[in-house]
Amino acid sequence: MASSSSSTIIPVFLLITLVISSLMVASAGNFYKDVDITWGDGRAKILNNGKLLTLSLDKTSGSGFQSKNEYLFGKIDMQLKLVPGNSAGTVTAYYLSSQGPTHDEIDFEFLGNLSGDPYILHTNVFSQGKGNREQQFYLWFDPTADFHTYSILWNPQRIIFSVDGTPIREFKNLESKGVPYPKSQPMRIYSSLWNADDWATRGGLVKTDWNKAPFTASYRNFNADACAVLNGKSRCGSKSWFSQELDSTGQARMKWVQKNYMIYNYCTDKKRFPHGLPTECTATVSS
Ligand SMILES: *[C@@H]1O[C@H](CO)[C@@H](O)[C@H](O)[C@H]1NC(C)=O
Repeated sequence: MASSSSSTIIPVFLLITLVISSLMVASAGNFYKDVDITWGDGRAKILNNGKLLTLSLDKTSGSGFQSKNEYLFGKIDMQLKLVPGNSAGTVTAYYLSSQGPTHDEIDFEFLGNLSGDPYILHTNVFSQGKGNREQQFYLWFDPTADFHTYSILWNPQRIIFSVDGTPIREFKNLESKGVPYPKSQPMRIYSSLWNADDWATRGGLVKTDWNKAPFTASYRNFNADACAVLNGKSRCGSKSWFSQELDSTGQARMKWVQKNYMIYNYCTDKKRFPHGLPTECTATVSS
């Protein structure tokens, strides 16, 4: 008897799980519901019933969007397919930011390149208005051939940048060592495609080829499992990410990326910081 009752319990449990997960998928990623197009005079478009968003750039203007919600901690995923072909001079920015002179910011920026030459993934973290924490990477795939997932995990202890689930960078909460950490200013998601040929590609040497315009980047499958802040009240989802940290596999994968694909790290740039590297570069977290 006991075995027959448990065999009916399992399918019901599975059914409930399936219904819940399909609801979650259905609620994830409708750009009409989740974002506002903020600039570009028609160059940013929401397509396929809200499942796809495209930004474009031509000689007159770029374009951009921002999330309707502000978030205070969460795990935020977006799939991007970057400008293909000759994208030199273009920058696709995808970041979280609060407002004001002491704002916090968590940045992904993709610096375009000539056909066949690698994009640079540029990252930065601002806390209390101070950035200067750049790390840059090449990617281990062609980011223009297909969509790839770029994620930010932001909880009270750490910020983890990931690409297709592989962690590439971690910024730890080192407030105990006097390093400000983003933890009280809600942030919105922003993204834009713009011309930065004065600095982006090989330090500004390669200019945007406007004969190739318009340039287009695409977005899909936005998912924010995050605490959305509305009128000072915070509404969270699962909070499964709230105390998430890198396990040993994650740490090993991050090491692999940093060893093989990192091309700039402010934490090793002693010329730039002649009076000593920033505290977070040398401090360890006391437990
Ligand atoms: C563009 O390609 C050149 C040559 O491979 C490389 O040095 C550079 O880092 C690449 N990326 C950018 C954004 O300049």
